[in-house]
Amino acid sequence: MSHPTNREPIGVIGTGYVGLVTAAGFAELGNDVWCIDIDEAKIEGLKQGRIPIWEPGLAELVERHRGRLHFSTDLADALEHARLLFVAVGTPPTYSGDADLSAVHSVVAAMPASDRHALVMKSTVPVGTGATIKRVFEEQGKAGFRYVSCPEFLKEGSAVKDFLQPDRVVIGDDGDWAGDAVVDLYAPLEAPLVRTDIKSAEMVKLASNAFLATKISFINEIANVCEETGADVVEVARGMGLDDRIGPKFLQAGIGFGGSCFPKDVTALKQLAGNSGYHFQLLNSVIEVNELQKRRVMAKLEKNLGSLVGKEIGLLGLAFKPNTDDMREASSLVLSARLQAAGARVRAYDPVAEDEARKLIGGVEFKTSAAEVADGADALVLVTEWPEFAELDFSAVAASMRGNTVIDGRNFLDAEKVRDAGLAYEGIGRPALKDREPARTA
Ligand code: UGA
Repeated sequence: MSHPTNREPIGVIGTGYVGLVTAAGFAELGNDVWCIDIDEAKIEGLKQGRIPIWEPGLAELVERHRGRLHFSTDLADALEHARLLFVAVGTPPTYSGDADLSAVHSVVAAMPASDRHALVMKSTVPVGTGATIKRVFEEQGKAGFRYVSCPEFLKEGSAVKDFLQPDRVVIGDDGDWAGDAVVDLYAPLEAPLVRTDIKSAEMVKLASNAFLATKISFINEIANVCEETGADVVEVARGMGLDDRIGPKFLQAGIGFGGSCFPKDVTALKQLAGNSGYHFQLLNSVIEVNELQKRRVMAKLEKNLGSLVGKEIGLLGLAFKPNTDDMREASSLVLSARLQAAGARVRAYDPVAEDEARKLIGGVEFKTSAAEVADGADALVLVTEWPEFAELDFSAVAASMRGNTVIDGRNFLDAEKVRDAGLAYEGIGRPALKDREPARTA
């Protein structure tokens, strides 16, 4: 990628996952980036090259562009060098289901009166937040401060790639210099651009996540019906996905979606609709289906093992998806608690998420490999589709287990290979071997 020299310096407020990837991505495009965070320890670590999150390619990018990335706890550094200040602070859910915007409002309050600066909102916020912030600026005598909504669509685990090769860039603004400047910033990526008003841009973000979550809950319900009827959801998804209008992505049935975004954003959109007087019926079901899906493994285990009291259950993977150590809303949290409530003993292995998991999960015995998890286990449950689990020597696994049940919570393993090793394989929405019709040749 070429590194133009005439790129304008920018500020990024918040060096969490979104902020850091955005900063490193723009540094790769040639921008100097002033990264600001109130967490002194984090900034000190970043100055010394310590990356606080595990994200493929991020550490390399930060290292390569150390000369362009400036880390500070002082907002004045960003205000001095940059006119565009990206906001990438957390907006976690509250008990009411609304997003907690206190960090966003602290940033807004810290801005000085200025005619040459703009806030560019990356944090996921409810529709109407931009309008509120503009009103606050006016009330505080800072009406010259511009505002742009520029939602992010990064996926954890492939965030660097998603930044550099986006499906689209969405920019919501008032048609002023700030919007033009953000368009210019993204121009080298040559992605389709949706330039629109601020509220529509805010809604694109929430609606996209809610739609993807709906797609997952839909295929999970199809999987549950497949289990009742003998169809195979993997085949069904393949047949559906070839329809251009449906598409093959996000049709993998499993034990539910997790992460820092889908559960939060679906709830936030439902809540936003409710606050505006509209009952978003579909989203209630999307959330409920997902909660039930996380528990479906229990019935499968009980069917195979009888009572779970005293049984040794091994979890393969804990993170909410592979290539991340993020444990937020991970299905493993619900599953490990349910298993222990049913009297089972739980052991688990995750290639990178153990440290995060230890903070959230109690009573689980952490192992250092999948083979250790299998040793003496009555059943294994694949929770996260880490590639290394597909490479397991299932004959060795079968020999070391006390029982022979393998529940594949992500339909990720090669079912025949697992069965050939003498194990009783069961996926999600897939018929058991005995019920399957003989394979047909074309
Ligand atoms: C999601 C969106 O995909 C991003 O576009 C968005 O920017 C991000 O949220 C955000 O708002 O910040 P992410 O949470 O990183 O990204 O993870 P996904 O890859 O979307 O997966 C979410 C969950 O859905 C995972 O638990 C995954 O296992 C599950 N999933 C995904 C399925 O169960 N089935 C599928 O077919 C796909």
